[in-house]
Amino acid sequence: MKTIVTSALPYSYSMPHLGNFTGSVLPADVYFKYLMMRGEDAIFICGSDQHGTPIELKAIKEKLEPEALADLIHGQIKDAFHDFGCTFTHYGKTHSEANRRVVGQFFDALNANKYIVEQASTQPYCANDRRFLTDRLIEGTCPYCKSNEARGDQCNNCGKLLTPSQIIDPHCNICGKSDITFKTVKNLAIALDKLQSGIKKFITSESKNDWTKNAVNKSLSYVDEGLKPRDITRHMKWGFPVPLKGFEDAVFYVWFDAILGYIGITKEWDEKRCDEYWKDADTRIVHFMGKDNIEFHTLMWPGVLLGSNLGYRMPTTIRASEYLTSKQVKFSKSKGVGLTIDKALEIMGPDYWRFVLMYIYPETADSEFTIDLFVEVVNKIMNGKVGNLVNRVLTIAASNKALITKSNPGKYEAEVEKMTKRYLEHFDRFGLREALHDLVALADYGNELMSTTEPWKLAKIAAESKDAASEFSSIMNALIDIIYKLGIMLHPFAPSASTAATSYFGITGQPHIRMFGTPHEINYSMEIKPIFGKITDAQIEMLEKYT
Ligand code: 2FM
Ligand code: ZN
Repeated sequence: MKTIVTSALPYSYSMPHLGNFTGSVLPADVYFKYLMMRGEDAIFICGSDQHGTPIELKAIKEKLEPEALADLIHGQIKDAFHDFGCTFTHYGKTHSEANRRVVGQFFDALNANKYIVEQASTQPYCANDRRFLTDRLIEGTCPYCKSNEARGDQCNNCGKLLTPSQIIDPHCNICGKSDITFKTVKNLAIALDKLQSGIKKFITSESKNDWTKNAVNKSLSYVDEGLKPRDITRHMKWGFPVPLKGFEDAVFYVWFDAILGYIGITKEWDEKRCDEYWKDADTRIVHFMGKDNIEFHTLMWPGVLLGSNLGYRMPTTIRASEYLTSKQVKFSKSKGVGLTIDKALEIMGPDYWRFVLMYIYPETADSEFTIDLFVEVVNKIMNGKVGNLVNRVLTIAASNKALITKSNPGKYEAEVEKMTKRYLEHFDRFGLREALHDLVALADYGNELMSTTEPWKLAKIAAESKDAASEFSSIMNALIDIIYKLGIMLHPFAPSASTAATSYFGITGQPHIRMFGTPHEINYSMEIKPIFGKITDAQIEMLEKYT
């Protein structure tokens, strides 16, 4: 079986903040690393979502070409993800030749299959800027949640899809004026109404593959409300031109080429292998995203795949996270301020962020990030529970190595095996946060074993007491086994610490879960160094700058 793992494509508009990162790229990377540890045939596809009005608007304001701006920020984001230890098979972009071809191919197929319809709508027009105010170029109050975060296509606050005419008290986002009139324009739309029964069947059958509850509920409720044709073109300049007579002034809507970007980016990686993955009946497609992206992935995307009928696989699993929020630290991508991922790495290394963010990952409910919580997880859990255990076991073992003899699995091993099994089972059902908590539970077990049996005391009397010597050896075998397994289990969450911990056992490179069962011995010639440290006051001060 093959697996394609994707993360929602971040807009190459500004650097993602910790909330964006935790919503999709991080869990996708953690899951992909797990699949690599299992030796699965998997690829991890992501890239920058480069079209759309915010980028065009920013380019206007910064007097740059949209493409130059989108490529510049694409490069910065790509570097930051790399520094965060993310191991994409390919991190591409949507404004590429490969994606342009994919978009054209799907559009032609949808058109030939009669799923493209013309749709006249009234669009807001700014008399001052003399242009249509597509999507995010118009702002105002949301008719549903009444926040002032309503944009022409979606409410930033409640996530509901909107059309510009629904917005209360709208104003132009370029000039700020309310000099807005509505004019009739023609757009092309995908006839989701005609695809509705296929989409519903898809949701009902595929959601059995571990979809998050929010994805199932939201998708079914939208289908039950009845799907309408959804525009796939926009009257603006930045984007892929629409290859149809009468639409010379239009480009494709950013979401149309973004979802197709999953295929376009795979083609950009490897034209031939792309189809080997995307068209194989035995391929699983796992999409990670934030909850505001659900309907594009469960309604529009299957609609495009079904309607085009080009033989590409439908999504298998939809994992939509809730939000990571923070009242204390600023997270704002649209405003481009606050604790962005590149700034976060100036304070602490990637392992710390990855571990903490997955420890509080908003899997089933929104989760709140605070500095106190960050400090607590770093100091008490990473350093206090996991790091210290690894360090103490290595130190005690190194000074008493002659006393540790190979023994058959003792009374502790069965418990350790149960705990690692739980970790694997959670991962297999996408319980990433639970898997990390299983890892911490194993460290807890090791720490408890250490404090209740006090092996260092047994070592002191081992020369006089055979029983003490044998008890010491059996406890140390269990503890060594625990830190060895912890080292492997850390890989998806804290890859550098995992490398450091497993290197004491001669493992170089990426660990594999079959190593759980292979014999392991400590390489005593290595210098023992902590795998994690505590956060310093200076680092806390740096974090506080973002409050
Ligand atoms: O919401 C967002 O950040 C979008 N750029 C996600 C796109 S996901 C995919 F379909 F490309
Ligand atoms: Zn709203």
